[in-house]
Amino acid sequence: MSTRTSTFDLRAWLTQAEAIGQLRRIDAVDPKLELGVLTDLNAKRSGPAFLFDHLVGYPPGFRVLTGSMLNAVTLGLTMGFAGVAGNIEVVDRVSEMLRGVERKADRYPLEYVAGGPVMENVVTGEAVDLTIFPTPLWHEGDGGPYIGTGSWQIHQDPDTGWINVGTYRNQLLAKNLLGNYISPGHHGSLIRQKYWDRGKPCPVVVCFGAHPLFLLMGSSDVPAEVSELSWAGAIAGAAVPVLKGPLTGLPIPVDAEIVVEGFAYAGDQTMEGPLGEFTGYYAGGKSLEPVIHVKALYYRNDPILLGSPPCRPPDDFSYQFSVMRSAAIKESLRRAGIPGVRGAWVAEAGGGRMWIVVSIAQKYAGHASQTAAVACNCQAGGLMARYCIIVDDDIDPSNNDDVIWALSTRSDPATTIDVLRECWSNPLDPMITDEDKAAHRLWNSRAIIRACKPFDRLATFAPVAEASPGLVAATKAKWASLFEQR
Ligand SMILES: Cc1cc2nc3c(=O)[nH]c(=O)nc-3n(C[C@H](O)[C@H](O)[C@H](O)COP(=O)(O)O)c2cc1C
Repeated sequence: MSTRTSTFDLRAWLTQAEAIGQLRRIDAVDPKLELGVLTDLNAKRSGPAFLFDHLVGYPPGFRVLTGSMLNAVTLGLTMGFAGVAGNIEVVDRVSEMLRGVERKADRYPLEYVAGGPVMENVVTGEAVDLTIFPTPLWHEGDGGPYIGTGSWQIHQDPDTGWINVGTYRNQLLAKNLLGNYISPGHHGSLIRQKYWDRGKPCPVVVCFGAHPLFLLMGSSDVPAEVSELSWAGAIAGAAVPVLKGPLTGLPIPVDAEIVVEGFAYAGDQTMEGPLGEFTGYYAGGKSLEPVIHVKALYYRNDPILLGSPPCRPPDDFSYQFSVMRSAAIKESLRRAGIPGVRGAWVAEAGGGRMWIVVSIAQKYAGHASQTAAVACNCQAGGLMARYCIIVDDDIDPSNNDDVIWALSTRSDPATTIDVLRECWSNPLDPMITDEDKAAHRLWNSRAIIRACKPFDRLATFAPVAEASPGLVAATKAKWASLFEQR
């Protein structure tokens, strides 16, 4: 007997978002470019979610949602917390949750049920036609419409049975054909290769619309052998209800909006891309990539496609990406036994990867270098990091004025910057030349910057010229009317 609830229903999320003023409904937008521009503009102001309906050229009810996690309120709605403000507080809250998830994930195995809303419409074989969905052409330079940006796909490891979920983009190439770019080393590509090495096609499920928690999960650094679906269950405090995919046997969350089942065959490749990238460029360009042949399509009545297009940051997913990565780095530092870490922030403007700032209360000589070396080389912080800046604990790592002040006044370029070479990068790094990419030199250098007071001068460093917190609070309280928001 199913005990299914609507915990993972995107529509329940929309109702809640609307109730707290975090949803705008918008009609009559053109999915060709116009929707993409509105989405990007909204991302740059950390706005509410946008739900587009009556899209030009499509029937009413075939909807697109963007901006689902652009600020602490909608991210909190997705993860189940409220009333947390300020980047560092949000990161602290999320890193606490990540710690809890590891202990709890085993308690939330998938809940197999017979059916659910996603099976309201079932289309198989030659009748599959993904062009019925309003698929945006997000940016002028993109190589075509992308149906998969806020999407995620499921693969099962043929050796261990582990179910992996990852967000990997999908270009809509034909009515039943998807381009699929998975970066080298990502779990989806490693699992897919295992099937091909055995001479078998790789089964895959792709979900194009669902509760944003699944997008958060698919794009987070969940370690190998941990099922992201149980991870989502542990965050939400409820097992994810799924049905067994009729063609692939893979799990399909029954509250999803649009899901396909299909196969990727060894050697079956097509030119894919480009799509605006999270670094803000088209560095990866167009390349030969594997395709997915879609054999079955399932969707709810009045389906909602979830979009989250990358572009010059801040973009649609950079806020949640920065929070999740910052929280994961903070957790990694804790696990590495590094004391005194007060805050971590991976800047949105650095694509959520390339600019890492960690604040510490310095405890011993060498503490700052040790923190930096781990922060920019652990699993969460290692890929594409370029600058890793260590600041003291009076600095908010997410406040650019604070960080620039620390860099300007507590670092000495001749002595407090070290450079690591041949570090982990990838083809989307705009600084890697085409020649280096062809020769597999997919590495970068990264600077570790100690922008904190020298440890041996902590007691004697020039005092900061500002009013003490107590005096500020008392004065503000007395003159409160001067500082009221108008
Ligand atoms: C909106 C969005 C789009 C993404 N697109 C891709 C992509 O096209 N290819 C890719 O390899 N990673 C992409 N990523 C990053 C991966 O989802 C992320 O690194 C994830 O942790 C990979 O999961 P895995 O380690 O299980 O493979 C994207 C992330 C987001 C948030």
